[in-house]
Amino acid sequence: MGYDLKGKTCLITGGCGGIGFETARELSRAGATTVLVCRDKARGEAARSAIAGAGGGRVETLACDLASQKKIRALAKEFKRRFGALHVLVNNAAAVPARRTLTEDGLEMQFAVNHLAYFLLTGLLLDVLKASAPARIVNVSSGLHRRAHLDFGGLQAEKGYKGMAHYSLTKLLNIHFTYELARRLEGTGVTANTLSPGFTASGLGRNFGPVSRFVMKRFGRTADKGADTVVYLAASPEVEGVTGAYFNKRNAERTSPESYDAAAAARLWALSEDLTRPR
Ligand SMILES: NC(=O)c1ccc[n+]([C@@H]2O[C@H](COP(=O)([O-])OP(=O)(O)OC[C@H]3O[C@@H](n4cnc5c(N)ncnc54)[C@H](OP(=O)(O)O)[C@@H]3O)[C@@H](O)[C@H]2O)c1
Repeated sequence: MGYDLKGKTCLITGGCGGIGFETARELSRAGATTVLVCRDKARGEAARSAIAGAGGGRVETLACDLASQKKIRALAKEFKRRFGALHVLVNNAAAVPARRTLTEDGLEMQFAVNHLAYFLLTGLLLDVLKASAPARIVNVSSGLHRRAHLDFGGLQAEKGYKGMAHYSLTKLLNIHFTYELARRLEGTGVTANTLSPGFTASGLGRNFGPVSRFVMKRFGRTADKGADTVVYLAASPEVEGVTGAYFNKRNAERTSPESYDAAAAARLWALSEDLTRPR
């Protein structure tokens, strides 16, 4: 892809598999110091050495289970202790559990990992992003956001959980969050964009039934193709200064009509602040 990120530091959640791993590999190839957030230390180390072995920028890992707000706080602290700057934050990690599961904070798992972790980690790193400006935040969403409707009473799926329907909702939340974040970051030199990587064969389908897993493996694009628009938003000079946009295959696209509801985005922001307050 030929990007030049020498002297830049990038942090990628979910960096040890799927789209996150391929993103990290490309950013490192472009010369960035690349920090992978992985929940499993051994897998993190395997990913780190696979990327570092190919040459490119320095590669490091930080361990964190993003389902735990305490661990996200520790992650942000550790990142700041070890790295002086942050030019690109890629919120990418996501999960689709087969059954409704609660985190140690008492929150539904997808809501916690796919949305609140994006929100909390970004908030904790905003000072270092602003100090490193120009800087970029890239939130990985999905075209499936178009299937979702934001019902504030359903964020924790208390009245019936359907894995993919709830996943689509969390991907709509990624878009609301990005648009509101971009509004709040105006004039800071930090941009915030979101995207769909497209249907990609990855670990995301591990809890799907055998037919869906087969379809994903057979018809999904490879993870390096899935990472293409993520890397584009993280690194390309073409999107320097672009903010508050959603991309698909490197093109800016409109999202679902309700994703432009700024009042809903502000309400989601306030609720997310409340749910991520230290207790
Ligand atoms: N694949 C697709 O078709 C598709 C389509 C549209 C959007 N997306 C989006 O693309 C992004 C990447 O997904 P992917 O397809 O690459 O799936 P993936 O292979 O399953 O990667 C997801 C990553 O998130 C990590 N993760 C999940 N829960 C975590 C937790 N509690 N703490 C820390 N890390 C956690 C996983 O770590 P472990 O390996 O330890 O589980 C994994 O590295 C997601 O935001 C997804 O919504 C994917």
